[in-house]
Formats: sequence, structure tokens, C-alpha cells
Amino acid sequence: MPKRILVTGAAGFIGSNTVEALLARGDTVVGLDSFDAYYDPQLKRRNVAELRAAQAHWPAGAAFELVEGDIRDEALVHRLCKQHRFDAIVHLAALAGVRASIGQAKLYYDVNVNGTIHMLDAARDHGVGSFVFASTSSVYGETDKVPFLETDPCDKPLAPYPASKRAVELLGYAYHNLHALNFTALRFFTVYGPRNRPDMMAHKLLDSITQGKSVPLYNGGELRRDWTFVKDIAAGIVAAVDRPQGYEIINLGRGEPVVLGDFVRVLEECAGGKAKLSNEPMPAADVTYTFADIAKARRLLGYAPQTSVREGVQALWQWYRGRQP
Ligand SMILES: NC(=O)c1ccc[n+]([C@@H]2O[C@H](COP(=O)([O-])OP(=O)(O)OC[C@H]3O[C@@H](n4cnc5c(N)ncnc54)[C@H](O)[C@@H]3O)[C@@H](O)[C@H]2O)c1
Repeated sequence: MPKRILVTGAAGFIGSNTVEALLARGDTVVGLDSFDAYYDPQLKRRNVAELRAAQAHWPAGAAFELVEGDIRDEALVHRLCKQHRFDAIVHLAALAGVRASIGQAKLYYDVNVNGTIHMLDAARDHGVGSFVFASTSSVYGETDKVPFLETDPCDKPLAPYPASKRAVELLGYAYHNLHALNFTALRFFTVYGPRNRPDMMAHKLLDSITQGKSVPLYNGGELRRDWTFVKDIAAGIVAAVDRPQGYEIINLGRGEPVVLGDFVRVLEECAGGKAKLSNEPMPAADVTYTFADIAKARRLLGYAPQTSVREGVQALWQWYRGRQP
């Protein structure tokens, strides 16, 4: 049965890939996005234009409407939920920069926590059956215990951004307890791929290779990241939409961390050039390791990441090249 789904942050990197996955199976999707200026909003408009351009390939019944608005506009959020009677909300809208959140706690909490409260209230008031929230591997903080398990303590976030995401995970439990809301927090691990955010490492490395821009390499490249291809993340989100299960926190990673230096080499091979790297010490907000245990995602969601780092980087590069003037 096709579903009616509200996707917040629909014009963004993960949002636009998620909308694409939902439309491909015939859902009716309403996107809500403020085209926030954290990075160039024109890039987000291109994401939306790409979605619309594929309309001829959507199955019968699929529909997409984009509402330009802010999740902090409580009346708007309630109006949309009342009007559309959504089966599910995929809540991806957020300010998402770890380092950018330093000194911006008030703003990050306003968007990521207060804005989310509007979404939770609207889900409660309008009987939304499934609430899927974008959390992050950064809630694990700096830890030697790998792989990261959902039951690990997450009480030492290194910056306001992961603190705001952890706050929402906790709030989700309160809504589940009090209002029987089905709430699934998905902890994404270093997502990359087509429509990549330009402030993220994978994109910056391509800018460096193609335009000679210098990019900081922290800790001599001795960082490990559980790089996860965006289409695999979108498939995990869709699975979570379809399987409301009370309250759950679930890792979505690939489960195979890669040393940053090796990731750089794969990118350089695909793009046929060299990145200009400048060694810099580890920023206080960053962790040295991310490594997802994905057994729970496999069990509860049937999640099975399909894309190797080489395949994912190839797809990222194809997309990036296509967007160059
Ligand atoms: N990219 C990753 O590796 C990663 C990892 C962990 C978690 N996440 C989370 O996944 C979600 C999507 O991240 P992304 O990488 O696609 O980022 P993104 O910045 O590309 O997408 C976020 C979208 O939310 C919109 N937005 C911001 N503030 C808004 C507001 N007040 N009202 C309405 N819309 C607003 C932005 O305009 C943007 O289009 C975020 O919640 C982020 O915290 C991302």
C-alpha cells in the first residue's frame, strides 16, 4: 500500500535521496525544507529540480510536493499534518555540522530540539503511525569500545550538535511512553554519495582534487570512519518507515571502518588526481573512530548495505563531475 509521508529536510543531501527512494515505490511525499543557508541553498534547489526531472519514471500514484518552510513554524507543521494525515514522518531537517555547532548551542538547540518538538507534537496530535528521526554516530563520542552498540553509554557528546541529537533521542522515548508514538532514531554513520553536502570530507576532497583547494587532514589521516553510501541509508530509512516498532535506536552504518588515508586514495584513483592535504591536529569536537555494529539494523529492519566504498566513491565522483560547470 503506498503511503503518505512527510520528509523534513527533503531538499538536503540525505533528504533528497530518501524522497527519491519513496517516490520510486509509489508513495505520496510532502517535503518540508527551509533552504537554510548553512551551505548554498542553490545546491538544494538543484537537488529538488533533479527529483522533479525524474517524474516520468515514477510509478503510478507517486506524488511529490515541496513546501518551503521552517520546522520552527509550529502552525505550519500542524497544518500540514492535519491536511495530509501522514502515515509517517521522516524527520531529517536539522543543522548538521559538528564543528559548525561550536559556539552555536542556542541555535542548534532551537532548530534541532525545539523544531523537533513541533514535529513530535504534530505526530502525536494527528495520529502519525511512524516517526523516523535522523540521529548520528557522533552521539557515541570518543570511545575505544568498538564496534559501537546501541546500548553503549552516550553521555559524553563532544559538541552541541551531537548533544542536540541525543536530547531528541531521549525526548522520543518520553513521547513513546506518554503518547504511544512509534519512534525510531537511526544513527547514521558518515554518509557520502550523490548530492553530498559540500562541507563534508568526501566533497571537500573532490574540491581539492579538481580545484587545488587545500583540505585539512586531521591526525595525519589516522582517523577511521564507517563510510556509508547514501542509497543504503535511504533504504534503511524506508525500512524504518515501514516497520514502526515502539521505541528503537538503530545504527545505520556499513560496519567496516576505513582509514581516512585509504579513503583519500580511493577518491584520488576514481577522480584521477591528487588532493592537496594539510596536516592539522585533531579538532576537539571530532572523534578518531566510528564503527557501527549493524546487527540490530539487520534484525529489525532487514537492512543490508549493498555498496562497497569503491562503488560508492565512483557514484559520488560521477555525480560530482556532472555538476561541474
Ligand atoms: N550526512 C551525514 O553524514 C549525517 C550523519 C549523521 C546524521 N545526519 C543527519 O541526517 C539529517 C540530514 O543530513 P544531511 O547530511 O542530508 O544534511 P543537509 O544539511 O543536506 O540536510 C538538512 C536539510 O534540512 C534543512 N533545514 C535546516 N534547518 C531547517 C529548518 N529549521 N526547517 C526546515 N528545514 C531545515 C536544510 O535546508 C537542509 O536541506 C540531519 O538531521 C543530520 O543531522 C547526517
